[in-house]
Amino acid sequence: MFFKRKPKPVAPGGFTDLHLHLLPAVDDGPADLEQALALHAGLRTLGYERFVATPHRYPRRFPLSTPERAAAALDELTAALGAGDAGELGIGAEYMFEPELIALAAEGRLRGLNGSRYVLVEFPKSLSAQPLPEMLFRLRTAGVVPVLAHPERWTYLMEDRDILERVVDGQSALLQLDLPSLAGKNGGNVKRHAVALLKEGMVDIVASDAHSPKDLELVYKGLMVARSLLSESDFIRLACETPRAIFDDAALI
Ligand SMILES: [Fe+2]
Repeated sequence: MFFKRKPKPVAPGGFTDLHLHLLPAVDDGPADLEQALALHAGLRTLGYERFVATPHRYPRRFPLSTPERAAAALDELTAALGAGDAGELGIGAEYMFEPELIALAAEGRLRGLNGSRYVLVEFPKSLSAQPLPEMLFRLRTAGVVPVLAHPERWTYLMEDRDILERVVDGQSALLQLDLPSLAGKNGGNVKRHAVALLKEGMVDIVASDAHSPKDLELVYKGLMVARSLLSESDFIRLACETPRAIFDDAALI
């Protein structure tokens, strides 16, 4: 196995991963079924019980990542996992924000995480941060609850913390942190941002954002870092309880 130790059991029910690229040959996730199965098996070993596959929905960059292709890949993966101890597997999407998402949200056409009201949204790397709170608020009022993917990775957000605080204070979105960011995957600055957000209580959930079995070690390290920075109850809330509530479509904000 890729690591010798694993986190001790953390809570009844284990971890729930709401952001990962698990479907074979759909986006920049696993290249084939074998890689997808290896990623899934590694996360199971780490203590993950529930997964929501979130293929990119960003037609300009990932034209092949369509709902039809994702559904076929999910069927392929589910069949390969068989009736064994695979945990629970759901589907969602990672949307790149574009203004038309607001109309799609109002029409009920966005795919929420495991079919829930919670929709995973990322923003472009280069953007003025100023419009972000309003964009998220408009999505929220259109009937979905945005889950903002990895804010620690976008410099413009971290340089203007008032923006994120407005989002959190206005209950326009939940914030999702990438565990590999805590392990240094995206560089020292991103790691510092991730640690700061976590310590300041800005983060609602942590997720793997894993793309291949190569990310497993980083996910493991990220879990260890999060655990070391947080109280046990906060760690369980961010890694287990809140993700599970979203998986079950419970009301949070
Ligand atoms: Fe992602």
